[in-house]
Amino acid sequence: VIEDLIYRIVFDSRGNRTVECEVFSDEFSARAIAPAGASTGTEEAIVKDVSFIDEVQEKVSRALVGISVFDQVEVDETLREIDGTENFSNIGGNFAITASLAVAKLASAISGFPLYAYLGGIFAKELPYPLGNVIGGGAHAKGSTSIQEFLVIPVGAKDFFTAQYANTMVHKKIKEEMNARGIFSAKGDEGAWAAQISDEMAFEIIKAAIDGVRDETGIEVRMGIDVAATELWDGERYVYSDKKLTTEEQIAYMAELSDKYDLLYIEDPLHENDFEGFAELTKAVNCMVCGDDIFVTNIKRIQKGIEMGSANTVLIKPNQIGTLTDTFRAVKLSKENGYDIVVSHRSGETEDETIAHLSVAFNATLIKTGVVGGERIAKLNELIRIEDEMNKPSMVKIKWI
Ligand code: PGA
Ligand code: ZN
Repeated sequence: VIEDLIYRIVFDSRGNRTVECEVFSDEFSARAIAPAGASTGTEEAIVKDVSFIDEVQEKVSRALVGISVFDQVEVDETLREIDGTENFSNIGGNFAITASLAVAKLASAISGFPLYAYLGGIFAKELPYPLGNVIGGGAHAKGSTSIQEFLVIPVGAKDFFTAQYANTMVHKKIKEEMNARGIFSAKGDEGAWAAQISDEMAFEIIKAAIDGVRDETGIEVRMGIDVAATELWDGERYVYSDKKLTTEEQIAYMAELSDKYDLLYIEDPLHENDFEGFAELTKAVNCMVCGDDIFVTNIKRIQKGIEMGSANTVLIKPNQIGTLTDTFRAVKLSKENGYDIVVSHRSGETEDETIAHLSVAFNATLIKTGVVGGERIAKLNELIRIEDEMNKPSMVKIKWI
């Protein structure tokens, strides 16, 4: 049983204070740290200020101490009960998710199984491809590109290590390419290159880098984007640094980019409440169309998306919904309806590597967790360890290629 539960305030990769939960049973303990977004969806679980730590700790520990560490559902329902709201506005999604994940990690430690195996059982047998952020702007690097993230997927890599290696090569080549063109660049919140360049230029630079990696290694790397379009939407138009697009123009622009750059992945191409626009684009393109802010890992919103044909892929961020059980429900609903899932970090991250395990347990097609930076590398290196430990697991089959 859970014998004790404490919270402490630690720091994330932006230097912001965030909350860590640690749970204890016998000689075992486990902890989890809350990440934080910059371009958050309106319907996400609420982030409660860390100054409420004592009050929340008192409530949560009183409720969870005594529950079996193996009864994850009971733990998570209890968190929901003591909160009493849909979006955790009482105890905070950040306090809830850390308790929930810390308990799962404690159970895995006690059981002797690694977390991916404890949660995924016999279904945990494939590894996801890393979806790496290589050029970024939007809310993660103001003054850089309008599109928030330019992503790469090393689809030609035969194992996870090689896949991550290919992403690091693309990341490095982009810097060289920028240097060669006299473009000054620095890193944004997720370690992607930020520069005062147009979105078109970003695509061209990445294309050159990808071609270079293919020539050197033979590995095929495809491109993707996270438009984070809610951030561009002014209520009437999508506002880019060099243009303003209506919804119809935005859909046409996305389809054009998908064609021109052979995109494999498009995330949040329209604002978070445009289920119709999402559906229209999904019909028009032949690639992964992923919902982040529109779904917020919430089964009600995912269900609506399924009914309307919005997207074909769901971004999974545990802290958007607040418990592991609800995260699992979102994964299950998505998969039962033929949607791919992508387990994702947040722009504000820490050394906590839990999502690496979740991506394997949930059999995600992709894991979105950057390419470089200690807080991203924590997850990527953990996947390399998992790959070692699983003894040559296969890579997931991407049905879109
Ligand atoms: P966030 O952005 O973590 O800053 O919300 C990441 C994303 O939009 O995928
Ligand atoms: Zn996103």
